[in-house]
Amino acid sequence: MSTRRAPRPNARPATRLLHTGTAALTAGSGPVNIPVVRTSTVRFENSARHAELHHRRAAGERVASYGRHGLDTHQALEEAVADLEQGHRAFLAPSGLSAITLVLLALLSPGDHALVADNVYAPLRRVDQTLLQRLGITLEYIRPDAETLRQRITERTRLVYLESPSSLLYELIDLPLLAGIARERGIPVAVDNTWSGGWFHQPLTLGANLSIQAATKYISGHSDLMQGIVVVDSPALAARLARTHEALGLTVGADDAYLALRGLRTLGVRLAQHQQHALQVAQWLQTQSQVARVFYPALPDDPGHALWKRDFGGASGLLSFAFADADDAQADAFVDALHYFGIGASWGGYESLALRAAPERLREHSLWRDGGLDGRPVLRLHIGLEDPADLIDDLAQAFERLRGG
Ligand SMILES: Cc1ncc(COP(=O)(O)O)c(C=O)c1O
Repeated sequence: MSTRRAPRPNARPATRLLHTGTAALTAGSGPVNIPVVRTSTVRFENSARHAELHHRRAAGERVASYGRHGLDTHQALEEAVADLEQGHRAFLAPSGLSAITLVLLALLSPGDHALVADNVYAPLRRVDQTLLQRLGITLEYIRPDAETLRQRITERTRLVYLESPSSLLYELIDLPLLAGIARERGIPVAVDNTWSGGWFHQPLTLGANLSIQAATKYISGHSDLMQGIVVVDSPALAARLARTHEALGLTVGADDAYLALRGLRTLGVRLAQHQQHALQVAQWLQTQSQVARVFYPALPDDPGHALWKRDFGGASGLLSFAFADADDAQADAFVDALHYFGIGASWGGYESLALRAAPERLREHSLWRDGGLDGRPVLRLHIGLEDPADLIDDLAQAFERLRGG
């Protein structure tokens, strides 16, 4: 006999995170962790069983009839993330960017139009330029407010794509309002939820239909794998995604699925700590004369603070600040002077990172263009799990050097 101690229906998120997608107790005992099931080939007891599983899969069930579909390790991770995001079903992809591409290709066809917030993770525009435009699909980048969304929806609009808070400047959107406008027109809404790790924010509970995460970041939490996850809110969307997922041959290795699941078990405690450290650093940065503005929605004077308080349970470790009067070369010298912050593009691991935002990326954001900050270098910081006092000391000595001290 095989049993699982699934969470009770009223279990709280921290309990659900540990008790969803767990290993079964077979014949009375079993491991705490789900085994890593690596395989390319799935073998069947007989031809009738082979045919049965193929039919069930074709009818939309999550049945593995080939290694590419992912076996127990993958299924456990999918279940746990779908539960975290309060969705119907999750799909794994080999990177966050491929998860974004999966959503775009699953929901858009030649002649279709999609509205995309102008502040989303920038490489989406590369998918647009290199792939979607060739397929006759039009993406239009808009300021993500209700008035603009209402104005720009057309008869051909088939998707609204958002990110909250936005990449680089952590601008909040009013998701329930925007999702309500799209819903009235029957248009699905996808949200990149990577910043919150799915722990502090569940877009599907606020009207979105698809939540995308780069599991590369907080879900893995240790900077040791690449992965993306899409969670959908309904069987109908699951069927559409399943077809494109299968057609693209998207798959994730069992070892990476295992590592993501292992990371997921400590997501809540890691994010609580990232939040505490990041808030201390953000508040300290606000006191520095060489800082023009700090972008972090947990700060009470951040323009998105009220929406963040309403829609999020906390803030992660990713923030940015604009220098008051340094040029790009001085900002780069500041980064080079840091001791504990690695210079690197990803984030969401245990360690602190710093990277200057490319000005051409910032200019894509209407908030940036209209906010009077154009020309000032912006530094993105991922605040890790080091002692925040050491991180503040490190930033302080880099500011000292900037002053020529
Ligand atoms: C908000 C956001 N979404 C998606 C991605 C893409 O994830 P990946 O690097 O796993 O492709 C990133 C990567 O930095 C990101 O910051």
